[in-house]
This record gives sequence, C-alpha cells and structure tokens, in this order.
Amino acid sequence: MIYMDQIIAKIEELKTKMNAVILAHNYQRCEIQQLADYAGDSLGLSRQAVEHDCDVIVFCGVDFMAESAAILSPNKQVLLPAKDAHCPMAAMVDVPSLRKAKANNPDAAVVCYVNSSAVVKAESDICCTSSNAVNVVNSLEEDKVIFVPDKNLAHYVSLHTEKQIIPWEGYCPVHHQIMPEEIRMAKQEHPDAEFLAHPECRPEVVEMADAVLSTSGIIERAGKTDVNEFIIGTENGILCRLKEQHPDKTFYFASAFASCANMKMVTPSILLDSMEKMQYEVNVEESIREKAKKSLDRMLEI
Ligand code: 13P
Ligand code: SF4
Repeated sequence: MIYMDQIIAKIEELKTKMNAVILAHNYQRCEIQQLADYAGDSLGLSRQAVEHDCDVIVFCGVDFMAESAAILSPNKQVLLPAKDAHCPMAAMVDVPSLRKAKANNPDAAVVCYVNSSAVVKAESDICCTSSNAVNVVNSLEEDKVIFVPDKNLAHYVSLHTEKQIIPWEGYCPVHHQIMPEEIRMAKQEHPDAEFLAHPECRPEVVEMADAVLSTSGIIERAGKTDVNEFIIGTENGILCRLKEQHPDKTFYFASAFASCANMKMVTPSILLDSMEKMQYEVNVEESIREKAKKSLDRMLEI
C-alpha cells in the first residue's frame, strides 16, 4: 500500500523525468486539480496545451479535451489517464447527420462546440467553447449558423446575436437536469446570493441567472464582486477552486445531482499509473487532424 504523499512524490518525479505537464479541467476531483500544473476551462486548457514547452501532456479531463490537445500539438505525446472518460454530449452529433444538415443549409456556417469528436471538428468551419461562443458566432460572415451539438448553448448564443442559429439536438446530461424549481428554491433560501450559471444549462435556468459564464468565468466572477454568497449552476467539481480562491465567500449548489461521472474518473493513483505506463495515448489520424486543427486555430485567433 503506498500512501498519498508517496504517490504525489512519484508523480512529481515522473513529471520532471518525462518533461510533462499535467492539465486538469475545473470539474476534476479536487486532489487532481491540486496536483495539476494548470487547472482551467476548455479554452484555457487548449491554450495551455499549445503554449507549454513540454514533451508530454497528461490531460486530466474527458476524451475530447485530450483529443483537442493532440490536434493542436502533434509533436507532443498526449495521455488521457482514464480511457473511459467520454463526454456523452460529444457523442450526440455524427458526421453523416452533420453533412445532411450542411446539404440542407448550404449558406450556413458550422460552429462546433469543443465538446465534440475530432471528425466533427474536421467537418466544421470553426470551434467554440463556452467562454467564446458568442464572439465566435458574431465573428462569422455568414448570417446563418448550424450550431452543434449543444442545443442549450445554441439557445444562449441566439440571445446574443442577430444571426439565425440552427440548433442541434444535443445537451449535457449533467447541466440539463438542473431544474428551474431548484433555482427558485435556492433563491428563496439565499435571497442575497448571486446566481451564476453555465450556458449548458437549459434556457429556463439561464434566464434566471445573474451571469452566464464558463467554469473559469464563474471562478473569476466570484472574486470580482462585493457579493458574498453565490448559487452555482454547474458541475460540482468547480467548488474546489471556488473555495480555494475565495475562502471568505459562500457557495450553494443549485442541484445536488450535478456531478459528471466521466470527469471524476481520474484519481491520483490512476494518474500515476498513466504516467508510469504512458497510457492511454491519444492520437488523431493526420488527414482529420489537419482539418480539425483549422477549426480550432480559427477559434484561438479570435
Ligand atoms: P468549460 O469550458 O466552461 O470549462 O466547460 C466544459 C464542460 O465540459 C462543461 O460541461
Ligand atoms: Fe460532457 Fe457535461 Fe461532463 Fe462537461 S459536464 S464533460 S459537457 S457530460
């Protein structure tokens, strides 16, 4: 049996030996976020994957995030410690259906949320994340946009653009089950609290929010206001950095069920195992990678 401090010491040792960087999404277990060199939202993590001068990226997140790192940085080895960490929303759009939608709307641009597979990114004009979706859509020349796969993010974008948004039928099961009545109850219990929601929440929930932000946006917002209490409408892993960065503030979760099982698959010993065995390597076939990179690069230029 090896103890936690031995696991942490081994991870640190291997990191130096491998010239690796550990990236973690804001929904990871707290101990993983604390072990990471950088914890952040999807946009921040994509930027870190490009900017870090390293040989190996150990990506503590779900598959599409590690895949994006592999697309953007072909010279780095990308490891996904939990091979079954999939995002169910990313599987809600496939290439044949997207091609059909494109054929039906030849004048529309395709914007794909980064929560999508490499093949779908390759089939799209540009990617977006929760923090830049509105800017990405408004940057386009086309007046019509097919937005895949998140219908809730598509709806949020449609509130902030003049363009016609054609939404897909996908959604995040974790955010979609945060219900308006839960927010009403939380607001009644905590009348002075600000309600911060992620744009993957359903429209009725987004409508009730004081601010709609990416995960890192939520963490920043809590530090930028005099308000001391917050109702949080997103996945509960975010509490780790909210508490760490704002120890004097109080956070209430809108829903007791907002936990993403896929995001919680990495533990310190699984991370160590991944680094010791160099598993599970993420690779994207070159012709797909090149096309998908164009969509991601175009987003990163904005
Ligand atoms: P962020 O980019 O806001 O971190 O969101 C990623 C995600 O998967 C939300 O469910
Ligand atoms: Fe996918 Fe939702 Fe989990 Fe994010 S929280 S990884 S969108 S299932």
